[in-house]
Amino acid sequence: EKGGHDYFMLKEIEEQPEALANTLRGHFVDGRIVLDEQRLADQDLRDVDKVFVVACGTAFHSGLVAKYAIEHWTRLPVECELASEFRYRDPVLDRDTLVVAISQSGETADTLEAVRHAREQKARVLAICNTNGAQIPRESDAVLYTHAGPEIGVAATKTFLAQIAANYLVGLALAQARGTKYPDEVAREFHELEAMPDAVRHTLGVVPQVRELARELADSKAILFLGRHVGFPVALEGALKLKELAYMHAEGFAAGELKHGPIALIEQGLPVVIAMPSPKGRAVLHAKLLSNINEIQARGARTIVIAEEGDDTVKPFADHLIEVPAVPTLLQPLVSSVPLQVLAAEIARSRGYDVDKPRNLAKSVTVE
Ligand code: F6R
Repeated sequence: EKGGHDYFMLKEIEEQPEALANTLRGHFVDGRIVLDEQRLADQDLRDVDKVFVVACGTAFHSGLVAKYAIEHWTRLPVECELASEFRYRDPVLDRDTLVVAISQSGETADTLEAVRHAREQKARVLAICNTNGAQIPRESDAVLYTHAGPEIGVAATKTFLAQIAANYLVGLALAQARGTKYPDEVAREFHELEAMPDAVRHTLGVVPQVRELARELADSKAILFLGRHVGFPVALEGALKLKELAYMHAEGFAAGELKHGPIALIEQGLPVVIAMPSPKGRAVLHAKLLSNINEIQARGARTIVIAEEGDDTVKPFADHLIEVPAVPTLLQPLVSSVPLQVLAAEIARSRGYDVDKPRNLAKSVTVE
């Protein structure tokens, strides 16, 4: 049942190419993006003037990734917020606000309450969900299903990648409806997404290397994660996975924040994982991150760098280099998250913990 694996989570990590392919399938028809069950007309999408993404935990991190893409493609302001915070504020919503509620289970209490609050304020709500007929999609105006299949491991893996893909479909559908992207640009972005299952399959080649690294890091006191731009939510997600599975102190930071405090944590031998942007993408991002790695290495950190294959410039700064395939910048989280998932699971295993059932956690959080 675990497909020859020691634990479900590794099987689910390996199922990520299929999860992505299944989530994208059927959403590009006759040159247009189509969403699923749409009780939102194209006109509603055209009228949207603001987007809120609400979710918890890993689903929230998928929303943070999506913010970069949706703003870039649609030129709409996008706020991504923890559902538990959103509902107790007084967010400014009206019928031209689109609220995207992301939930694997579709039953998360905080996200459900956020949906109810948004609908009371007349906002349009689109759910992204992995569970057919769950409560959140039932109470939303529209639903886009992730087709990741059932996830047994408590830690979200394949549903995270599928959520990013689904968020991107929403972004492209908005860009298409609003005309902020030409049809051929929308088509190109979709085809780039369609190439991701293969890129993720290729990335799975890092598993043996990361497993070995995990054994070396299993006794660490703490691990820090750094990223910029879409690499920032990747860092947050890497840290969350490590906390929940390995019960190890972990923090994710925006690399630019280092000198505003976190750099004081750096000491001899502290492992720091860095998600590097592509050298072929925004040159300034890459250069800034190189200088951040340089700074922390000079202070004794043990640098574990996730970088694009062939990026030779990072090699002098990487005590340990994990190479992932070259993909467009906005799609990088789909490959750079994979080694972080494996790292957390394998550190947990080295420490003797139950990877699929971490202590104190439940798969579906139906209490607030
Ligand atoms: C972490 C994890 C949780 C969930 C969160 C939201 O690995 O799985 O952080 O992402 O509890 O759950 P859903 O997506 O079901 O609303």
